[in-house]
This record gives sequence, C-alpha cells and structure tokens, in this order.
Amino acid sequence: MDIKIVPLDESQLKQAPEKDFGFGNLFANRMFIQEYTAGEGWHDAKIGPYEPLVLDPATSVFHYAQEIFEGTKAYRRSDGNINLFRPWENMKRFNQSAQRMAMPVVDEEDHLDAILQLVELEHEWVPSVPGATLYIRPTMIATEPALGVHASSRYLHYVIVGPVGAYFKGGFNPVPVYISDTYRRAVRGGTGAAKTGGNYAASLFVGEEAKRKGYSQVLWLDAIHGRYIEEVGAMNIAFVYEGQRIVTPPLTGSILPGITRKSVLTLGADLGYETAEEMIDVHEMLADVESGKVTEVFGCGTAAVIAPVGKFGFQDKEYLINNNEVGPVAKHLYDELTGVQTGRIEDRFGWTLTIEANG
Ligand code: PLP
Ligand code: COI
Repeated sequence: MDIKIVPLDESQLKQAPEKDFGFGNLFANRMFIQEYTAGEGWHDAKIGPYEPLVLDPATSVFHYAQEIFEGTKAYRRSDGNINLFRPWENMKRFNQSAQRMAMPVVDEEDHLDAILQLVELEHEWVPSVPGATLYIRPTMIATEPALGVHASSRYLHYVIVGPVGAYFKGGFNPVPVYISDTYRRAVRGGTGAAKTGGNYAASLFVGEEAKRKGYSQVLWLDAIHGRYIEEVGAMNIAFVYEGQRIVTPPLTGSILPGITRKSVLTLGADLGYETAEEMIDVHEMLADVESGKVTEVFGCGTAAVIAPVGKFGFQDKEYLINNNEVGPVAKHLYDELTGVQTGRIEDRFGWTLTIEANG
C-alpha cells in the first residue's frame, strides 16, 4: 500500500504534553485514513492532519452502527525506543470483527504498516513517564449516505493515536464491580466476540446504574442462563483459586477474545501458575469468594492491563475479595506484562515489535 504523507503546516503542529494525559481525550497531530468503494477496493491511503470527518447526516454508521474498532498501545522503552505489543493479534481481530459486521477486510500487513508509519511520525507523542503510553485506535465506519438496511458500499478506515495515563483514575488499585441480575451485554450468536460499537452502547445503561450504586464496572453474565460469567466492563475476567490457579471463562462466542487474556494464560503458565479456561457459575464463584477459595479476581485488557476487583455487589449483598487489596498474583502478572511491554523484562515469547525512535 502506498501511503501519501501530507505535510503539516506550523499551525497544525501542537507540542505533545508531558503529563496529565487522562484517558482518550488527547490526540496527536496526524491520523491515517483510507477509503473503500465497492468494486474498487481500498484507495487514497494517507497520513495527514488529525481533523474532523465531514459526513452526510444519512451516513449509515449513524443509523445502523456498522462500525468496528481496535485498541492497542505504543510503549516507551527505557532505551528511548518504542514497543508495540502483539499488534499482529489486533490486526487479525480487526478483520474478524469486519467479517462479523459485513465490512471489507483490510490487508493485515498494510494495516500494521500504516500504524508503524504513524507512530514513527508521532514518536514524540509516546509518553516517557512511567505507566503512560500512546493509545492506538484503528476504526472502520460505514459511510454510504443511505437509509436502506444493508451492508454499506463505502467505508472509511482510519487510525488515531493519543497519549494516555492509567485507565482508572485510582491507578493500579482494586475496583468495585456490580453484578447485573437483569441486563446482558451479548449473546452467543450475537456480536459479543466482535469489537463493534453497539456492544459498548448496550453496556452503558447498566454501567450508569452501577455507578449510581457506587460501583465502577459491571460483571456480565451469559444471556441464555443468566448464570455463567463472561466479562467485566470492557475487559476479560480471571479468578485466582487458592493463590495458584488462574481460571478465565472459555471463548464461547459472546466474549471478546482479548489479547491481554491470551497473554495472561501463556505468561501465567510460564510463571508456574496453573491456568484453565472453564465456565464459572456466578453463585458458585460468590460462595468460593465467601469461603476464601477464590483469593483474587482481576479484569484484563489493553487499557488497564490488569485491574484487580476489590468487591462484588450482587442482589443487595457485598462480597469482599482479598480484603479489597491488590493481590500477589494480579501484581505479579501486572509487573511481568508491563515489564515485557516496556522492554524492562526480556520478551521470551516474541510479543513485541520495536520501533527505533530517532530522537
Ligand atoms: N473485552 C472487551 C469487551 C473489550 O473491549 C476489551 C478491550 O479491548 C477486552 C475484553 C480486552 O481485550 P484486549 O486484551 O485485547 O485489549
Ligand atoms: C481495553 O483496552 O481493555 C478496552 O476495553 C478499551 C476501552 C477504552 C474500550
């Protein structure tokens, strides 16, 4: 793919901030974008200024939500260079999401090349402060201006990047989690395994209800039995039994196949923990929390890496986990994962792709 690099003028070159990034509110100077037209394929790839999209109000994405996205990060290494973490997995999942949403796929190598060129151009936007990274958000939207319900004949694929700090305001600290008795995020056969906006829209109502009750995330149960644990907020979930067995639900179709989840299974086994993918009944799990058999619970995802769960709220009862403190297994995995991501710990699995940052 030939990517046209559009030069920016002085007024378009903002200085990258050095701290206080928050999450997802700041964006670098440039973005990648290309267009798709049925019968022609992808065309007009360019890296140009980060700027608003001008779209007809009838554009199909606004009405029927045909859209997908990805989330990955660029990490500043201590030698000044930059690491991407398993970006090949994100490129693959982007296309899996595209297929599920009846959208065109993108050449995986071209997609990665676009990200590499963008990060190289914006290398000054990769933060150097510990815990902060450059968040990379590839997106595809349906752009045909028509109200008929059918797969669009036109699309935009773009990548925006911006510096982020910790996903949770409290940093690496336990979060309180609300278990919804009524509402479900996704159903087997639905779109839960795709990274598509509608899944997140469907989660907001319960997310707000959880917040009103003093919880920061929602634990999602399966939609068929209302019993089996699926995910937590926008993360996969794992349970630690007796300090040494890490269990996460299997990928049954309604769960997003997380790259952090996959890494936790590989890394956990390598670090000497027993790892397993098993269906977890919420009632059994809560009984195991009460008896002390479940010693830790944590969410895992690119944004937070590992997010310890401090307590569950279910049907007006609270269940405290590890005394609402960060547990040793969550801490161990967090340190190891962030260590590999930032180059502090040797990458023994070939997970990182290093970009030379010339300056
Ligand atoms: N589950 C959902 C619903 C997500 O949005 C994410 C975030 O990407 C994850 C799980 C974790 O996936 P990953 O580890 O690939 O970031
Ligand atoms: C994650 O990276 O874990 C996420 O779910 C990102 C979120 C902002 C959608």
